[in-house]
Amino acid sequence: MSELEFVPLAKITDVPENRVSCFEVNGHHVVLSQVKGEFFAVHNKCSHADQSFNSGRVRGHKLLCPLHGAIFDIRDGSVLGAPAFHPIKSYPLKIENEDILICTDAPSSD
Ligand code: FES
Repeated sequence: MSELEFVPLAKITDVPENRVSCFEVNGHHVVLSQVKGEFFAVHNKCSHADQSFNSGRVRGHKLLCPLHGAIFDIRDGSVLGAPAFHPIKSYPLKIENEDILICTDAPSSD
């Protein structure tokens, strides 16, 4: 089995706590958030009506869609609140020194 490839996504200092930070890497649009010193990344498109989370909010582990208010768990992309019913892809991350690395090739549960 081949090892997953991780590529640089952002610096730790680029991702303030409890904020939505948006990045693009290898054609993947990603929402990155820091919650209590841990980092999480999910696909930057709501599964309800394709809205980006660029103006969304994070409250604890909850990611809120700015358009109709669906709620996702930023840890794994699962749905916590309607009107969305389908999860969004989450991405494995690694921290190396001050860098956050992402794996965009990992299989998704969505
Ligand atoms: S587009 Fe996100 S809740 Fe409708």
